Amino acid sequence: MAEKVQTGIKGFDILTGGGFKRKSVNIIVGGPGSGKTIFCIEFLVEGIKKGEPGIYITFEEKKTKLYDDMKGFGWDLEKYEKEGKFTFLEYTPEQVKKVLIEGGGVVDNIITKQKVKRLVIDSISSFALLYEDELSRKQASLALFELINKWECTALLASQDTSKDEHVVSAAMEFEADSIIILYHMKQKGERIRALEILKMRGIGYPERTVSLGIKDGKGILVDPTSVVSF
Ligand SMILES: Nc1ncnc2c1ncn2[C@@H]1O[C@H](COP(=O)(O)OP(=O)(O)OP(=O)(O)O)[C@@H](O)[C@H]1O
Ligand SMILES: [Mg+2]
Repeated sequence: MAEKVQTGIKGFDILTGGGFKRKSVNIIVGGPGSGKTIFCIEFLVEGIKKGEPGIYITFEEKKTKLYDDMKGFGWDLEKYEKEGKFTFLEYTPEQVKKVLIEGGGVVDNIITKQKVKRLVIDSISSFALLYEDELSRKQASLALFELINKWECTALLASQDTSKDEHVVSAAMEFEADSIIILYHMKQKGERIRALEILKMRGIGYPERTVSLGIKDGKGILVDPTSVVSF
């Protein structure tokens, strides 16, 4: 069986038989406030605990705010950064596009120097919007996947789900990805409930149910693999 990379989110690791496949590219989709950023950071923090440095590339999150927010879960990103185990990289979609064309540059250097094993892009939505048609989106997606492959990282790409615009994540990206995880934050009888669904995961059988998810201060993401959520 393929080697697995634990996310540190216990219930999720149980559901998936140990987490993500090593060196796979995974997409996490969800609406605003559904927990994508927290999930991504928890995945990186778990890596750091296991001796796998991480890089977090973002266009949307501000560094000081993120560091502050994550302290609430007990994750000291500032400390990890000082220790050379965590890199926060604020990159515009245009800069990412440049990385794809030039084949690495700054990102390449950081990944080699810090021996980065886990990579997050939060999010790929604005990046996908840089490309006008599906064909150029497909080419860009393939270039990005090839780069991640070359870096030999296990990657998690966040994607905003607006539901209205189905082209926010390119179809090519969804086909290429090793897994797609969906986070829900739905209203049911006047109350918002959170849930998680594995839409696809190559190479393993997984439960087809949508399970409950919680976000807890001092802990992070909690996934209950046994509780089925129906909307
Ligand atoms: N310390 C905390 N304790 C409990 N819940 C929290 C805490 N911090 C944030 N949350 C919850 O997590 C949600 C934000 O999660 P997160 O930032 O990961 O969402 P997101 O999917 O990345 O959203 P966006 O698309 O806006 O970036 C908040 O709306 C809040 O409900
Ligand atoms: Mg976010």
